[in-house]
Amino acid sequence: MSKRILVTGSSGFVGKNLYLRLGKESFVTGISRNDLYFTDDVVDIRDRERLHSVLDDRNPKVVIHCAYNLHVDGCEVNPLEAAITNIEGTNNVVDWCKERSRKLVFMSTDYVYSLNGNVVNDEKSPVGSLNVYTSHKIENEQYIRKNLKDYLIIRSGFIYGYDKKGLNFLMQMINSEGNMKVPEDQIISPTNVDYLTESIEGLLNGDFVGIYNCNGNESLSRFDFANKISDVLKLKFRPTPILTKDIENKAPRPLSCVVDSSLIQIATGIIPLSNNSYLKQIEETLTYY
Ligand SMILES: NC(=O)c1ccc[n+]([C@@H]2O[C@H](COP(=O)([O-])OP(=O)(O)OC[C@H]3O[C@@H](n4cnc5c(N)ncnc54)[C@H](OP(=O)(O)O)[C@@H]3O)[C@@H](O)[C@H]2O)c1
Repeated sequence: MSKRILVTGSSGFVGKNLYLRLGKESFVTGISRNDLYFTDDVVDIRDRERLHSVLDDRNPKVVIHCAYNLHVDGCEVNPLEAAITNIEGTNNVVDWCKERSRKLVFMSTDYVYSLNGNVVNDEKSPVGSLNVYTSHKIENEQYIRKNLKDYLIIRSGFIYGYDKKGLNFLMQMINSEGNMKVPEDQIISPTNVDYLTESIEGLLNGDFVGIYNCNGNESLSRFDFANKISDVLKLKFRPTPILTKDIENKAPRPLSCVVDSSLIQIATGIIPLSNNSYLKQIEETLTYY
């Protein structure tokens, strides 16, 4: 379905993938803080006046909000500075959608399930935070639900895909040359970025509203996933296992974030492939180019 869509944070990993996918069918504008690729207007979301003026000019029917300070340790060290982007900046986006009655898609995190221990979380599971980054996301979700009727909150995590200049886990592995220590006691549900963007497109096409988990169907430790990447991509090196307690992170990380994403799969009819299949596709791209 063709729509006018604006993506914030369009120079980032998720933003650029949405910009490219949705741009095939819809008129998509990208805004980011720096004039990089996939950016039509340079806008800092902390600058409410400029943000609202650009949104008025571009007049999107849907705003997909990906601009964020997602440096989990950085948020912990400088929570007030991070809040200016994550809370005030996000509120600036939400407020415009409220004033103009436009749909908002907000990228949240599966870390909202951090306090639930070793269980499978659906959208009705309790939310709570172990760190500042997650507390910002929970505050954002509450503000959105209070102020908007037409919204999608996408809870996802550990998003991976080939991204030449990016820093997602897969790219860190490829670029690490064997120097990577990876926790063996953190259980994750990795999410392929193509699956994520296709699912968001599916929700928009069906005009769905509400909160949706969007992760891959497979749960495994970060270390096992790292080994899988090494195997399928035929990397010459393997990660080194480490325990979470031995890592000097500024922000605590959950040991288990396992997510049931059946709601979004039923809504869109899109089922994620296995990580092996996605990694194989990436390996073929790497080999070809
Ligand atoms: N990656 C994951 O595994 C993951 C998992 C769960 C949820 N998410 C969520 O998905 C969203 C996108 O993540 P990502 O991986 O694409 O992050 P990313 O690659 O770091 O991209 C973030 C984008 O936000 C922009 N940005 C940051 N501060 C800004 C500001 N004040 N004004 C305007 N733009 C600003 C960045 O531009 P500059 O580079 O110019 O600063 C960049 O374009 C975030 O909300 C994140 O929390 C990501």
